[in-house]
Amino acid sequence: MSRLVVVSNRVAAVSEAGPAAGGLAIGVLDALKETGGVWFGWSGECLAEASDEPTIETRGNVTYATVSLAKRDYDQYYRGFSNATLWPVFHYRNDLARYDRQEYAGYQRVNRWLAAQLKPLLRPDDVIWVHDYHLIPFAAACRELGIENPIGFFLHIPFPVPQILFTVPPHAELIQALMQYDLVGFQTRVDMQAFLDYVVRAAGGQSDGRSATLDGRTCAVGAFPIGVYPDAIAKAAKACAERKVVRALRDSLHGRALVISVDRLDYSKGLVERFHAFEALLAASPGLHGRVSLLQIAPPTRSDVQSYQLIRRTLEAESGRINGRYAQLDWTPIQYLNRKYERNLLMALLRTARVGCVTPLRDGMNLVAKEYVAAQDPTDPGVLVLSQFAGAAEEMPGALVVNPFNVMQTAEAIERALTMPLDERIQRHASMMAKLRESDLSVWRDAFLNALADAAHVALPA
Ligand code: ADP
Ligand code: F6P
Repeated sequence: MSRLVVVSNRVAAVSEAGPAAGGLAIGVLDALKETGGVWFGWSGECLAEASDEPTIETRGNVTYATVSLAKRDYDQYYRGFSNATLWPVFHYRNDLARYDRQEYAGYQRVNRWLAAQLKPLLRPDDVIWVHDYHLIPFAAACRELGIENPIGFFLHIPFPVPQILFTVPPHAELIQALMQYDLVGFQTRVDMQAFLDYVVRAAGGQSDGRSATLDGRTCAVGAFPIGVYPDAIAKAAKACAERKVVRALRDSLHGRALVISVDRLDYSKGLVERFHAFEALLAASPGLHGRVSLLQIAPPTRSDVQSYQLIRRTLEAESGRINGRYAQLDWTPIQYLNRKYERNLLMALLRTARVGCVTPLRDGMNLVAKEYVAAQDPTDPGVLVLSQFAGAAEEMPGALVVNPFNVMQTAEAIERALTMPLDERIQRHASMMAKLRESDLSVWRDAFLNALADAAHVALPA
């Protein structure tokens, strides 16, 4: 049986503090712990010189092989082309994107360097699973080095429609690079269709809906929505419900309803619009003053990218302004915390809230939406308010789905969630739990790996 080798920019379990906040880190860690294998990627360290060879560390059945980046590589590949070009454009924020030819050259150079670092660790029967937008040229770099193993790619973030992708100058090269994979997987069928639209309409290729062919090269395609383990989350949330921090939060509410939001501090997450929706709710419903609070947990991310510094300043100003306008001596409407929490504790915090407000402007999937539902007490569950622009919206039939740009609609949905009768809450929650169980994290992993094995005509990793 073959071995699974996962490649991603961020490798989760390097730090004892637990996985980094981010859907990729959380999802891949849980998925890989069961199959075992190798996880190769960036150590998170940026040094004067890049590492000579990967640092190897084995924990349980997973071997972590990590490399440090040189400062110039970090600037061009991670901070530059990945997070100041691809991330904004793939989230439909061309207004925030820049293009710098040197950064793109650095992005390609680092992909080639990473492939060369991985090569000595590979065995002939390994199956390589590459994750996310940092690594689009990785398969092409592997093939140049003579690596012949099956290589699949999964995109955790949205894939933009051709008119948006055209704004990235090397868009055609990016598509050609994706075509070098044996399988390219997306979170939703909408994302997959956007890729196929480019291949067929913009580049003159062909597709039968399951594969794409361009310039004589064919790759398989598929939609593989990432999931969670809902029962494990429910168990952890319940088990941690009496921890000191969770009790402190409950006590601080004095019977008030809690609306919770948990996101990396990213402009794609719709935090400003959400604060405005909460403000609109308070403006429209004076009866709610002193009776509801919004807890926004937002750990900082990519703090050295300018657009992230700007969103942080905006949120500080907006939470301060709204609190200044509505706070009472014994009530702060918005609690805004820039910190990371231990995972099980976070699940218990989610369980404490009557409403989960997950309203990104654009999101590949959004695991927090799934975690919020899974963390609820099934006999008295909270209600999920969910953006129509999160991949998760396709799979969450019981959510109140909103357009996050429509501040009044979001405010009304929060109010409806706060007043929803118990039987309706139970029924909505049960329908979503059934869906989460049906398409949990193992379904995501196994469906992708099966499709990759089919595409490359090899046996599955053990
Ligand atoms: P993204 O991948 O864009 O960050 P997701 O919602 O898919 O968005 O995944 C975020 C993951 O990070 C979730 O599993 C969530 O629980 C975790 N996370 C987010 N904020 C925190 C935090 N403050 N502390 C701990 N984990 C967090
Ligand atoms: O899931 C989307 C994602 O971009 C991952 O690729 C990434 O690991 C995560 O969000 C967090 O971002 P970063 O790795 O830049 O901290």
